[in-house]
Parts: sequence; structure tokens; C-alpha cells
Amino acid sequence: MALKLSVIGCGYLGATHAACMSSLGFEVIGIDTDANKVAMLNRGELPFYEPGLDSLLASEMTTGRLSFSTEFSDAADADVHFICVGTPQSKDGLAADLTYVKSSVTAIAPHLKAGALVVGKSTVPVGTAHMLREQLAQSAPQADLAWNPEFLREGFAVEDTLRPNRLVVGVVNDRAEAILKDVYKPIIDLGTPWIRADLPTAELVKVAANSFLATKISFINAMAEICEAAGGDVTVLAKAIGYDPRIGSRFLQAGIGFGGGCLPKDIRAFMARAQELGANQALEFLREIDAINLRARQRVIDVVRADLSEDLTQYKIAVLGATFKPDSDDVRDSPALDIAVQLNAAGAKVVVHDPKGIEPARKRFPDLDYRESVLDAVKDVDVILHLTEWKEYRELDPYAIGTLVKSKFLIDGRNMLDREKWRQAGWRVHALGRTD
Ligand code: UGA
Repeated sequence: MALKLSVIGCGYLGATHAACMSSLGFEVIGIDTDANKVAMLNRGELPFYEPGLDSLLASEMTTGRLSFSTEFSDAADADVHFICVGTPQSKDGLAADLTYVKSSVTAIAPHLKAGALVVGKSTVPVGTAHMLREQLAQSAPQADLAWNPEFLREGFAVEDTLRPNRLVVGVVNDRAEAILKDVYKPIIDLGTPWIRADLPTAELVKVAANSFLATKISFINAMAEICEAAGGDVTVLAKAIGYDPRIGSRFLQAGIGFGGGCLPKDIRAFMARAQELGANQALEFLREIDAINLRARQRVIDVVRADLSEDLTQYKIAVLGATFKPDSDDVRDSPALDIAVQLNAAGAKVVVHDPKGIEPARKRFPDLDYRESVLDAVKDVDVILHLTEWKEYRELDPYAIGTLVKSKFLIDGRNMLDREKWRQAGWRVHALGRTD
């Protein structure tokens, strides 16, 4: 008999997981407490932007295998329950807020059938899985718990779920591993590496991976600062060191740094947990990684002030990009939006464009001036800030844009535009970490 699955929490992670597991042939029920989100998903509509997921969701809804509900009791006949709820940074500190993870386990516990397996996918502080397993041993001793961290990237969510570069499962017995091997069989058959770990190691793999990625980005942004001070070019430096396979060229794109719902809060939660464990010294370097990252945003503002004026009240600035990265509508902890908000607060007239992120950005920062068209956004501006590297910005015609602005001054916060092309069209271009 094929396993039935439930996915608890239907955000970026859960909605993707539910649709992908359905596409592998499982019957899947997605549970979310947000009735609007559930209604949308049941209509086959995605509540957020993720390339490829919209069509996958729509087609899976027609199979009859996939459905969504607000009722935990509707998941009672599932054999495996994936916990995919958010673990945001807590309001009063660096630690992760585990409210949703705890409440979803508490809510599903009374409905778990004998032999059911609860599988955490959310990113949690090490020790959470053990704590939840103890909790289940009291409230639902007929069930078991495992941890299976998720490594998907927004913008590549479907690809990363169906063709991940590894599967990591934290289990305390063979039975839990066997169930997860059943679920992931089609993916394992592709040759995907399978790593069995204990619960704490599985939890740590996720935060270690994100900390390493954050470190890579902040490393190259630190080099960008040095290049600016010494008259070098960080893009050439990155290319040159990246040829060493021990270093690798990916995630060495210098710019305004990392944002999103994961990297920033994960390194902070990791530091907070290390402190609780009495191992704070081991992760002291992450404080510096965070500081370098936030400095990258500030450096853009410093360049604007140094070039235009300390007093920005007379200046109009176009910000191209609001999302934390392209091919996403996610504006959580977006460096681009943060820069826009800070310049706006400093008195500049800031106009923001983004291909997909305007509505989510407007919800968070209603005071900014948003425009649907780039041509509209750049009208009469004193400087254009390129802050999220959407493809459409690389295709802009600098000559055409040049006829609309007040001053042909461009700051490339992502080092992704063709500087020569813009310079030939008469623009002054400042790119982070490049002095020429
Ligand atoms: C990240 C990880 O890459 C995933 O493996 C992980 O599963 C996910 O977090 C998570 O914890 O759920 P994501 O947040 O989608 O994925 O975004 P990334 O592609 O990692 O980019 C993060 C930020 O770093 C973006 O703001 C991006 O612009 C920035 N970045 C990335 C750079 O500034 N330079 C680079 O070279 C690469």
C-alpha cells in the first residue's frame, strides 16, 4: 500500500514539498492554519511566486492526489507528516521562534495513527528534534519522529526538491529510515546521496550549510571592501580564486550581501543556540559574517551620500529590485528593500521597481513609491541603484534609460550589469568592490 503523506505548513517549503511529493505519486494533504492560503491552494493557485511551482501545483490538483485543509484531523490517515512551518527570528533576540513548530506538533499529536512518523523539515536549533520526540513519547507514544532538513533554494524550489544534491535524515531507529527511504525512493534511484545521521547532526547539517554559504558571501564582500581600499577589482579576484576547486566559484558574487528568510536568521539562531550550549566561542566568527553583510548595505548608502550629498532631501533615487534575490517575490530581510527604506528615511525621494516583489514589499513598507515599469521608475532620477539582479535589468538599454534620468549615474550593487555598455552610453558607473 502506498504511503499517505501530510505536509504541515504550506509556505515556500511546504507548498513545494506537497506538490512535489504528489508528483511522485503519493496522496498528499497539506495543512495550514491560514484559511485564505488553503482556499487558494485548493483552487490550484500559488500564494507566492516560484518558477515552475505554479504549473506543477495546478497539474497535481487535477490528479486528485493533492488537497489542502485547515483541519489537522483531515491528516489523521497519513503515515508520514512533514513539518514545514516557519522558524523566524524571535522578536526579542537572535534565537529562532519555535512557536509554530511546537504548536503544529501539539496539534497533530492527537490525530496520529499507530506507526505514524512525524518528520521535521523546518530549520531548527539543535536539540529541538530530541525535545519534540520526548513530547510525542508522552502525547502520542504510538508515533515516532525523525528530522529531514531541507536545502531548497527559492527560485529553484521544485528542481531542488525533486533533484536535491543530497538527502539527510536524522533518525533514532531503522524503521524511521526505512519509511523515509520509501518516500524518497524515486529520488534515491536518481543516484542522490543518502546520509543517515542522528537527530542533532541532522539539525546541525542544515545550519552548518547555511552558515558556510553566508560565510562565503561575506568573505567575498570583505574582499570587496579591501579591493575598494586598495584599488583592486573583486570580480576578477573572485574569478581567479574560484578556479581552485577547493574554493569553487559559486557563491562568490560580491554585492549588497545576503538576505531572505533563511541565511540571516539561521546564522543568528545558530549563535544563540551555541551560547545556550556553552559553545559560543566556536561561532563568534558568525557575528563578523553578519556585520560584514550589513556593512555591504551601508556601503551603497555611503556611496550615494558621498556622490550626491549628505543631505539627500533634494534627490530622487530609483531602486531596481526589491526582492532578496531574483526569481522570487520574497522580500524578507531583503538588502535591496532595506537600502530603499533607509534612503527614504534619510529624506530622498525613492522610487522602487521590481518584476514580482512590489505587492509583498508594499505590505511591509507602504510608504515607498512603487512603480510597475522601469521606465516610469527612473524618470528624472539622480541615481539608479541596481540592487536585485533580475534578468530584465541586464537587458535594459542604457541609451534609452539615459534619456529619462536627470543624471546618468548608476550604482551596481550586484556586479551583474555590463559596465562597459553603460559607460559607452555616457553613464558614470560605480560597482561595489571595483575601483576603476
Ligand atoms: C538558502 C540556501 O541556499 C538553501 O540551500 C537553503 O535551503 C535555504 O536558504 C533555506 O534555508 O531554506 P535561499 O534563501 O533561497 O536559500 O537563497 P540563496 O540562493 O542562498 O541566496 C541568499 C542570499 O545570498 C540572496 O540575498 C542572494 O542575493 C545572496 N547571495 C548569494 C550573494 O549576495 N552572493 C552570492 O554569491 C550568492
